[in-house]
Amino acid sequence: MPNQPQVFIANRSLTVTVNPAFSLLNNYLMQNIPIQTLCGGKAACGRCRFRVIDGDSGLSPVRPAEIARLGEALISAGWRLSCQTHALRNVTIELPGIDEKLDDLPQPGS
Ligand code: FES
Repeated sequence: MPNQPQVFIANRSLTVTVNPAFSLLNNYLMQNIPIQTLCGGKAACGRCRFRVIDGDSGLSPVRPAEIARLGEALISAGWRLSCQTHALRNVTIELPGIDEKLDDLPQPGS
């Protein structure tokens, strides 16, 4: 049976079964899960960001492009980019809503 991790999006009470071969962004887009993106997955807009609540070891390693876009402090606070991250095992996250204003990056600790 293929590995099919589950991403629990806690703030939406939604569980998404994902294919680890694809980024979280692409998994969401393929399943019509609302997610913000302006750059189409190039780690440029930061709109696809999410915060890990539990199970960060189940995610692919942080990429340099995520550090460049989000900064070390936000990465340390659990923020990642959906377009740069693959889920390898089950994980619990918070994903900003499609209507949430995301012009500014969140402050560490928020
Ligand atoms: S989609 Fe733009 S940074 Fe991920």
